[in-house]
Amino acid sequence: MLRRPRRNRKSEVIRNMVEETRLSPKDFMFPLFLLEGKKSKIEVESMPGIYRLSTDLMKKEMEECMELGIKAFDIFPVVAEKHKDKMATKSYQEDFFYLESLQELKETFPEACIMTDVAMDPYSTDGHDGIVDEDGKILNDETLEVLGAMALAQAETGIDIIGPSDMMDGRVEYIRDVLDDAGYEDTSIMSYTAKYASAFYGPFRDALDSAPKSGDKKTYQMDPANLREAMIEAEMDEEEGADFLMVKPALAYLDVIKLLRDNFDLPIAAYNVSGEYAMIKAAAQKGWLDGDRAMMEALLSMKRAGSKIILTYFAKEAAQLLKG
Ligand code: PBG
Repeated sequence: MLRRPRRNRKSEVIRNMVEETRLSPKDFMFPLFLLEGKKSKIEVESMPGIYRLSTDLMKKEMEECMELGIKAFDIFPVVAEKHKDKMATKSYQEDFFYLESLQELKETFPEACIMTDVAMDPYSTDGHDGIVDEDGKILNDETLEVLGAMALAQAETGIDIIGPSDMMDGRVEYIRDVLDDAGYEDTSIMSYTAKYASAFYGPFRDALDSAPKSGDKKTYQMDPANLREAMIEAEMDEEEGADFLMVKPALAYLDVIKLLRDNFDLPIAAYNVSGEYAMIKAAAQKGWLDGDRAMMEALLSMKRAGSKIILTYFAKEAAQLLKG
């Protein structure tokens, strides 16, 4: 035998030298759930170890993360039922707690990168990402106006990246225009480019109480059966001025990450979603698999497939492990 691949695996030093992919806390963006008020901390039942936090406690959490080397955060609002309406009007009302808190968080951590989410679902009584008409149809072009107003209100707080997660057609260009017209040409857009109609968002919808009241999201989110269609979405986002392309979920869509990595020069982000987190946590709690190893292996696979950035609820735990 001339070739023996096992020679390159014979010691830890050699294994480290030939290691092709290495995770770093700099790869991670940590999604956080923001509560109105003070001193509140409520665990998400279907996501053990993940809490909805009020601004004061979120500051503490962000500080701990920054010490571990995590500098990027994606912040979602938990919106009380009384604040919801059909048109998601709270999403762009300047004195709404989410917008006020974003400004406070950005002022407290100017060196952090803060991303916000643009979609109507957390603010909508329908629980859909767009406007729903009497027949249950999700209106595309009418929704763009709401998304534009929401994105502008978020940009005004000084945050770094806008994350449109709504999957309406033409939203990246629409939002880019609104931001540029208002002088926010430096605010970035991370588009949820290939966002699939997935069962893995369940725990997130628990966290925000944002599940659709009727129907599903299949007329705007992508069909899990489709790969080539991701190319169409990515081409559009690139042309429309997106700064990053995101694939979501991550673990069941590694082929999509790879496809976009091979065909586009924009940085690719992968969203390791709530259900993927819950799945590993639940099995680990039952003692059915080694949670730490499964977590690191899953994150590694996303990076190996080609994602530059990983949005993950494991960010803090993984950073602690990497440090330790
Ligand atoms: C809102 C949004 C969702 C997620 C991120 N932004 C839920 C959805 O589209 O229903 C899911 C994130 C996760 O599951 O971790 N449009």
